[in-house]
Amino acid sequence: MKKKIVALPGDGIGPEIMVGGLQILATIAAKFSLSLEVTSYPFGGAGIDKENTPLPIQTLQACQAADAILLGAIGGPKWNEAKERPEQGLLALRKALQLYANIRPITVTDALIDQSPLKKERVQGTDFVVVRELTGGIYFGTPRELNEEQAVDTCTYKKEEIQRIIRKAFKIAQTRRKKVTSVDKANVLATSKLWRKVAEEVATEFPDVTLEHQLVDSAAMLLIQQPRKFDVIVTENLFGDILSDEASVIPGSLGMLPSASHSEQGPSLYEPIHGSAPDIAGKNQANPMSMILSIVLMLRQSFGWNEAAKQIETACDRVMAQGMLTADLGGSTGTKEFVAAVIKALEEEEY
Ligand code: IPM
Ligand code: MG
Repeated sequence: MKKKIVALPGDGIGPEIMVGGLQILATIAAKFSLSLEVTSYPFGGAGIDKENTPLPIQTLQACQAADAILLGAIGGPKWNEAKERPEQGLLALRKALQLYANIRPITVTDALIDQSPLKKERVQGTDFVVVRELTGGIYFGTPRELNEEQAVDTCTYKKEEIQRIIRKAFKIAQTRRKKVTSVDKANVLATSKLWRKVAEEVATEFPDVTLEHQLVDSAAMLLIQQPRKFDVIVTENLFGDILSDEASVIPGSLGMLPSASHSEQGPSLYEPIHGSAPDIAGKNQANPMSMILSIVLMLRQSFGWNEAAKQIETACDRVMAQGMLTADLGGSTGTKEFVAAVIKALEEEEY
């Protein structure tokens, strides 16, 4: 059956990396006779410009009816004073689709190891996944208040919300090195005390996987001191936001990192980890790899089209091995030229 993909190019470099990614998707779809249809909708700042809201109703409805969603990037100084910021659209979309599990894989490949700002011997072989709870915690808790004299945010977690994300982490760990590090602040926060208790309970369902607990402050330190130590890190929404940005520094190229967000049932959303980089938007300088690898994740995780996914990865590796690198990786290849080279590699090669 034809797969319906909704593309949300968004703002800044979002549209240009989306165009590149979709060209590669079209190439691989032709090669493998994959049946898919991609439709783009305004979202984020582009939604505000077109429909006065970051998540227009048609965009939301299309996402709800999709088989998978691809998002470029959102935000930028242009909408700093907007009534609703582009980010509000993303939070509303995550909530509406119940995308509770955000998966951010972090690997350091030997080919790009010199890009890391950290010492080679520390980061070599790094391969872990951050599993971030995405629809709860302080991002969504009420009451919320902001006035001249006082501001209030509320962090809440229900047991079921913790259970499902911890289970997800354990299931992922079963396919990897079978170790889960649960990150919390159980020495201070009530939500973290419950988090730790539930993590212990869920662990008994997975006797083949080891569970360790780490306080978020020391986790932040260990992450860059001994990144190889980690396999699957599971944590709540705000800690996951912060730690995954920190973790993205380890490979040294934010422009290479994709992510996936899943619900219990319904479409998943795939997007680069980085933001909209307004400073380089429209300059043909952005690295499209994060978007391409988000598409690779979609092919695997939403559709099981593993061979197609593998071919895209191999083609990208070959192009980068030839020295075609975008500016973030110290090269001078433009976004369009990089995409064209990947398409050429896909078309030429008989795998
Ligand atoms: C992320 C981003 C978002 C978040 C922003 C844009 C709302 O930082 O996906 O990590 O805080 O979740
Ligand atoms: Mg973030």
